[in-house]
Amino acid sequence: MEFTKINEKVLDEIRAIVGAEFVFTQKEILEESSRDYTEDLRFLPEAVVRPANADEISRIMKICNRERIPVTPRGAGTGLSGGALPVCGGLVIAMSRFNKIIKIDERNLQAVVEPGVINQVFQDAVMEKNLFYPPDPASRGSCFLGGNLAESAGGPKAVKYGVTKDYVLNCEVVLPTGEIIWTGANVLKNSTGYNLTQLIVGSEGTLGIITKIVFKLLPLPTENLLMLVPFFSSEKACEAVSAIFRAGIIPSALEFMERDCIEYVMKFVDVKIPLKDNIQAHLLIEVDGTDRDVLFKECEKISELLYQYECDEVLFADTAQQKADLWRARRSAGEAVKSHSIYKEEDTVVPRAELPRLLKGVKEIGAKYGFRSVCYGHAGDGNLHVNIIKEAISDEDWNTKVPLGIREIFKLCVELGGTISGEHGIGYVQKGYLDIAFNKTQLDLMKGIKNLFDPNGILNPKKIFVN
Ligand code: LAC
Ligand code: ZN
Repeated sequence: MEFTKINEKVLDEIRAIVGAEFVFTQKEILEESSRDYTEDLRFLPEAVVRPANADEISRIMKICNRERIPVTPRGAGTGLSGGALPVCGGLVIAMSRFNKIIKIDERNLQAVVEPGVINQVFQDAVMEKNLFYPPDPASRGSCFLGGNLAESAGGPKAVKYGVTKDYVLNCEVVLPTGEIIWTGANVLKNSTGYNLTQLIVGSEGTLGIITKIVFKLLPLPTENLLMLVPFFSSEKACEAVSAIFRAGIIPSALEFMERDCIEYVMKFVDVKIPLKDNIQAHLLIEVDGTDRDVLFKECEKISELLYQYECDEVLFADTAQQKADLWRARRSAGEAVKSHSIYKEEDTVVPRAELPRLLKGVKEIGAKYGFRSVCYGHAGDGNLHVNIIKEAISDEDWNTKVPLGIREIFKLCVELGGTISGEHGIGYVQKGYLDIAFNKTQLDLMKGIKNLFDPNGILNPKKIFVN
């Protein structure tokens, strides 16, 4: 794809649309938009624009489409697959001014929001009305809902409540050619035509720019209990996971953390977690609902079952503070690992009961290719974040040998009935592995869809597909 550089004439056209104060070419702003949370990658855009509404984006897209200028939409930049990286330079459309919660509809349990609203701001706003928006990625304190849609983000609550896609009823989208569409209707069921809403969700900013979202909401569960369970063996911890569901209980969170992960976390945040020498992993298990007695009974049942998997004493979080600390620890796992060493974060996912085989395979493959991994993640979803640590690995091995090991890990995921990303997306860093999950026929279908939406390939180029 041949792209054109942004010149002064184009910048003036864009300034005339949004106002000169919202078009940026200063180095610091370009630097800010050059990175997200993915590894240590950086790509400078040529300009950044902060539009205020869909109409402005539509007019900007028409110019960029006419001029063949690459455009990268950007939320809060917390992505872990490089979706927001402007890898071809060009224009970054930053969505930070789309920060309004337009409506919380208590009659229908729905909300209409702009995509630049921070996940937790939205969660808190609906909670005030006794409503619940469950998707809660680790970065919920800073990530934007638009980015959550782009990657169909998950989080701990997904195990009981589903991921972002399960809450999106409808959205307004500006297409790469500048048209503005709504993808569906504000209804809980919809058999009307192809499902454009779900095509946009998870499309990683490659098919259109989301400018409004209609979410469904749930009544707020009022009670929860949280327990931390230490295990002498990581594989046994993983085996115990599927047994909990087989016993008829669906926890509202079921997280796995290896020992190394807990150690890094405790160096990174001020939270004390008991960690005996012989403990190899923990499960963090939450149940929620409206009846405390029922929840206590569920926890009892879970504990009895877990003792069969050789766990140490089950610890209950007694106070709100203890719960908050445990969650703060869990949510900071990614950043704690990153602060230790450059790393590659893989987002493997398999059917839940295959988790022990995945973990075992990850360790064997690491030994074969000479890398160490720190694993944690949403065990109840079979979603294991495999953090491959660079430490003393040479740049050459990091860039050539380690990817061969990652390939093997992903092949194992697919063999086990899983796939290569559960909630972080393919973006820029995983596209070289997409052929493991899809054959040519499948990839050609997807590329056909991309071409239909974006005939000139200007929107978030070089993402998802190798070419
Ligand atoms: C987490 C992010 C990395 O689960 O997905 O912490
Ligand atoms: Zn995660």
